[in-house]
Parts: sequence; structure tokens; C-alpha cells
Amino acid sequence: MEREIYHPPVLLKESLELLKAYEGGVFVDATLGGGGHTEAILKANPENRVIGIDRDEEAIERAIERLKPYGDRVSIYHANFSQIGEVLKEEGVESVKGVLFDLGVSHFHLRGERGFTVWKEQPLDMRMDRRQKLTARDVVNELSEKELAEIIFKFGEERFARKIAREIVRRRRKKPIETTKELAEIVESVIPKRLWVRRKKHPAVKTFQAIRIYVNREFEEIERGIPEAARFIRPCGRLVVITFHSLEDRLVKNILRNLENFKVVTKKPVQPTEEEIRENPASRSAKLRCIEIKL
Ligand SMILES: C[S@@+](CC[C@H](N)C(=O)[O-])C[C@H]1O[C@@H](n2cnc3c(N)ncnc32)[C@H](O)[C@@H]1O
Repeated sequence: MEREIYHPPVLLKESLELLKAYEGGVFVDATLGGGGHTEAILKANPENRVIGIDRDEEAIERAIERLKPYGDRVSIYHANFSQIGEVLKEEGVESVKGVLFDLGVSHFHLRGERGFTVWKEQPLDMRMDRRQKLTARDVVNELSEKELAEIIFKFGEERFARKIAREIVRRRRKKPIETTKELAEIVESVIPKRLWVRRKKHPAVKTFQAIRIYVNREFEEIERGIPEAARFIRPCGRLVVITFHSLEDRLVKNILRNLENFKVVTKKPVQPTEEEIRENPASRSAKLRCIEIKL
């Protein structure tokens, strides 16, 4: 039942150990989501406090409900994680023992109605934070063919990006593209059938990923948020980042490697066990990287 209600936290045991959550301290969960990692950190040591951040209001509401029993051991902020400095200032906290980033979309996004998945017919939205104006519909209907091709190639690593962009522009001349299904069909019509017809993965997955990353400025947030979080790690403290696709992992790996005063704890990224993948197939592509501040 729990799996239906909550987003199953990925690489949970590994995150707790690498964050040294059993030792007690103040932690930031920069991607609170359903609060799974946060709750586990709170349970790991009665001295632990967690400051949770998420830009999705619905996630915040769910997490508040779930974490009520922990009272003032947890503080929750509706913000971008690049705003971690402002959040900590408001909390009156100067340094923390660990920060966790569990990147990407949650189970709720994929099961919800905001057009995050190719498998359902929904309006093209894809905003994690509904306060922002730009939606996937705007991107698909308003950007130039060149811009669309660049986005789909850069954030989706889609080799048919130019053809997809051309077809999007051709179709939208007749009528605006409104739904996930319409977009998915456009992509399907461009990519040769022999490349996807027998696979489980929908041919539009890369295009959807690209548009989602663009709509939510995901990489800008990562580029600003991780170095900003690193400024607040106290001696011996750690930063743990979980990624879900190769582009994201490459970006994170480079950012972590270039942070001064940190050493890499995980020479190779930690990946889920067979058992975790069986229990939660969505964890399959997860990679966890951890760094520790030098003394
Ligand atoms: C994979 S889920 C986290 C799940 C969480 N660890 C749990 O156990 O329930 C990622 C969450 O991060 C949030 N998020 C993604 N990018 C963000 C950003 N730049 N700032 C704040 N929250 C962000 C999303 O809204 C989503 O709820």
C-alpha cells in the first residue's frame, strides 16, 4: 500500500550511510518530493533535523502531512534548491552536516496530470512549479524550428531532433499542439518504426525529457544549486546526489569534480541492487555520487 501512496525513495540505505545520517546533525533534503528520504533521515537518529525544499506545491503539501509527527525537527520550504542560501538564512542555520539531491521528477509527477509522461493523454504542461509561466505547450507551439531542434538534441540526445522539430512546426501551422498524445504521435511519425516498434521504450521519451528539462530549467538549477549547497557543508560533512539519466549524471559528475575543498567518496557511482530494481523498476537508471569536504 505504501508504494501506492508514496514515491519510493531510491537508494535509501546507501543515501543514509553516505550522508552519515546515523551520527546526528542538521541535513538539507533539497528535493523533498514525497518526503521519503527526509523521513528516513529523521528516523535514523533522534537528534537529526531536516530542512526540506521542493518547488512543487503539491509535493510540499503531501510532505507536510507525512512529516507532521516529527514536529519542529523538520522545516519545509516551497523554493528552488538554488535558493538554499536564502532558506538557510531564514532558518538561522550557518552550516549543515549533509545535503541530499534526489534529482528529476517524482512518482507523483508521472502519475499526475501535468503531461510528464508519453503514456497518457494530458495537456502539455510539464511544470514542476505551477507558479512559473512557461509550459511545454508554449515551448512546442512558440519556439522556432531551430530552437526546438537544439533543445531536443541537447537535452534529449535525440539524433532525429531536426526532423522532429520540422514536423512539430509543420503540424502546428494547422492547429496548435495541445496534448502529450499529439506530441508523442508527431515524434512517432518521424522516427523509423524499425528502431522502436519492438522496444518497451516509447520513441518520444527523449523528446519529452528534453522539453521537460527546458521548461523547468533543470540544468541551470543543478549548476547553481549544487555549488551553492556546497558552501554550507560543515567539516566532514557530505553532499549526495542521485541522478536518473546519463546527461544529468555527466553534468553532476563534472560539477562535483570541480568543487574546491571536496574529495570524492564514491569513486564509481553507487547503483541500485537487483533487488531494489525488482521492487522499484523506476530506480533502474539511478546513480548516486557523494563528496566530502576536506578538513
Ligand atoms: C525524485 S523526486 C524526490 C523524491 C524524494 N526523495 C522522496 O523520497 O520522496 C524529485 C523532487 O525534486 C523536486 N525538484 C526538482 N528540481 C527542483 C529544484 N530545482 N528545486 C526544488 N525542487 C526540485 C521535484 O519537484 C520533485 O518533487
